[in-house]
Amino acid sequence: MSWQQSGAAVEYAWELLRAAAEQPAHACRVVALATSAADGPRVRSVVLRRCVQDRRSLVCYTDARSEKVAQIKQTPISELMAYEPESRVQVRMRGRLRVVSQGARWRQAWEQLSERQRGEYLRATDAGLGRGADQLGRARRNFALLQLQVTDLDVLLIGLAGHQRVQARWSRRGWIAQWATP
Ligand SMILES: Cc1cc2nc3c(=O)[nH]c(=O)nc-3n(C[C@H](O)[C@H](O)[C@H](O)COP(=O)(O)O)c2cc1C
Repeated sequence: MSWQQSGAAVEYAWELLRAAAEQPAHACRVVALATSAADGPRVRSVVLRRCVQDRRSLVCYTDARSEKVAQIKQTPISELMAYEPESRVQVRMRGRLRVVSQGARWRQAWEQLSERQRGEYLRATDAGLGRGADQLGRARRNFALLQLQVTDLDVLLIGLAGHQRVQARWSRRGWIAQWATP
């Protein structure tokens, strides 16, 4: 595989993440999310739940009590990274990450979770106490969306005949993409 134009790499990156968000068994379904803490970077795995190219939006789910949420509120600029082994393509997407704990999209996401998934947002100390309506109400308050609005992306193809790297930045006119080295 190779790209003739830098814009093709940008399209490839969005297509890859859209497929990952739609297919639970996709190789890029679990991505790395990096945030900044007061004493340095933090990175962890998260499941990619939604990708809307038109809005430059990537969505994951998390527990509002997790450390990453406090980090994001302090420093919202974050980076998400995916690697697809088959094509040997790495995608890095950076932008402002928002913690969403209310609203129609948040409600809809909660409603689409299974009961088992909802149970994962209970307090650790609630485990084993049963899953009554009261407890599910508490779990719901811990459920949050992490929504990344991408402004910068970096796509790297580790090609057998040579590497290709494209960096792109969002502008009012769309993505401005250029070849990058190394
Ligand atoms: C395969 C895998 C998928 C995960 N998916 C998520 C996820 O979608 N959301 C999440 O908050 N944590 C997820 N985790 C757990 C995180 O990697 C991390 O351990 C946890 O969120 C606490 O991170 P924090 O202390 O930086 O907030 C996942 C872990 C693994 C191994």
